[in-house]
Amino acid sequence: MKNYEYIESALIHGGIYGDERTGAVNTPIYQTSTYMQDGLGKNRGYEYSRTGNPTREALELLIAELENGESGFAFASGMAAITAVLSLFKSGDRIVISSNVYGGTFRVLDKVFQNFGFSYTIADTTDLTALSQALTPDVKAVLIESPANPLLTVTDIKAVAELVKKREALLVVDNTFMTPYIQRPLELGADIVLHSATKYLGGHSDLIAGLVVVRSKELGERLHFIQNATGGVLQPFDSFLLIRSIKTLSVRMDRHVENAVELAKLLKEHEAVKTVYYPGLPDAQGYDINLKQAKNGGAMISFELKEGYSINRFFESLKLIALAESLGGVESLVCHPATMTHASIPREIREKVGITDGLIRLSVGIEHGKDLAADLEQAIREAKQ
Ligand SMILES: Cc1ncc(COP(=O)(O)O)c(C=O)c1O
Repeated sequence: MKNYEYIESALIHGGIYGDERTGAVNTPIYQTSTYMQDGLGKNRGYEYSRTGNPTREALELLIAELENGESGFAFASGMAAITAVLSLFKSGDRIVISSNVYGGTFRVLDKVFQNFGFSYTIADTTDLTALSQALTPDVKAVLIESPANPLLTVTDIKAVAELVKKREALLVVDNTFMTPYIQRPLELGADIVLHSATKYLGGHSDLIAGLVVVRSKELGERLHFIQNATGGVLQPFDSFLLIRSIKTLSVRMDRHVENAVELAKLLKEHEAVKTVYYPGLPDAQGYDINLKQAKNGGAMISFELKEGYSINRFFESLKLIALAESLGGVESLVCHPATMTHASIPREIREKVGITDGLIRLSVGIEHGKDLAADLEQAIREAKQ
């Protein structure tokens, strides 16, 4: 029986709270690969840690509760989580992906799964007509990010779920940018939700992890089979770290978003800035849809500087905000999608969808907003040619 109602409490008390045997308020780190059995075929629920580990299980129960799903699975990285989900399909099947998704998602489909006859189609999932046209009879799943990486485009998750259901395909949502604190895709009709937990869920740029939650028992059984068969599981210590991080998700996200709203406004009004992509700005693509399906616009911003400003000089002049891959940590980071996170996408596809060489992606951290604003402003001044 749950004795709380709100997600802020679930973040702390969800899944398995504490340790029944000792009363420890935290789930212990069961750093073990195997378990003694009481006799042939007689075990205490655990046989081998690839198949099941109590610390990982506490995390898996927690994320399933937070996303309001049937069961959860923890993997060694976001890519291992995506690979496990894509392993649900077979040769001859096809998946539709949003026209801007994380470069690694595109790469694993293009360079790995395609070799096994599992094909992909890229579609603008913000446009329901374009998506309908892409739903050929061999399409077994649609994978979207909303907001998507790196242009922060918003897809109507509920509308897409209805469309996908009519074709008896599965809707997979990568919820990395929002977290269940801001958006819960299963409640909007998605079948599978996944995360690079390396990002906001981990929150401190100190671990690599992936999570998956499914809405049905049948998908749960299939995914557990794949997790055990392919083996990309999260280790007990990292599972513990992730549980610990998730406890503070709501306070971190509130501060991330508060800073992001301020910085998006600053960039929007700045004379040196050509375009700002942030779903929390009222004139952004998908602003109304995002408000219907999410608590707010999140804390990722992308932007372009006007001609006459050098992005190289901008990156080199930043003093507080670091140039680095990744996002969602307490510290603010910038990256250059064209040569970093999205470099594995061929230039012609990148340019077609708007991932230009001038695009800058900013992961807004939880420092004081005024320090972040000052750093951005001085780096933009230095970037003027
Ligand atoms: C939206 C999104 N999904 C998935 C991934 C892959 O996750 P990981 O780096 O934890 O393997 C990333 C990584 O940047 C991401 O941004």
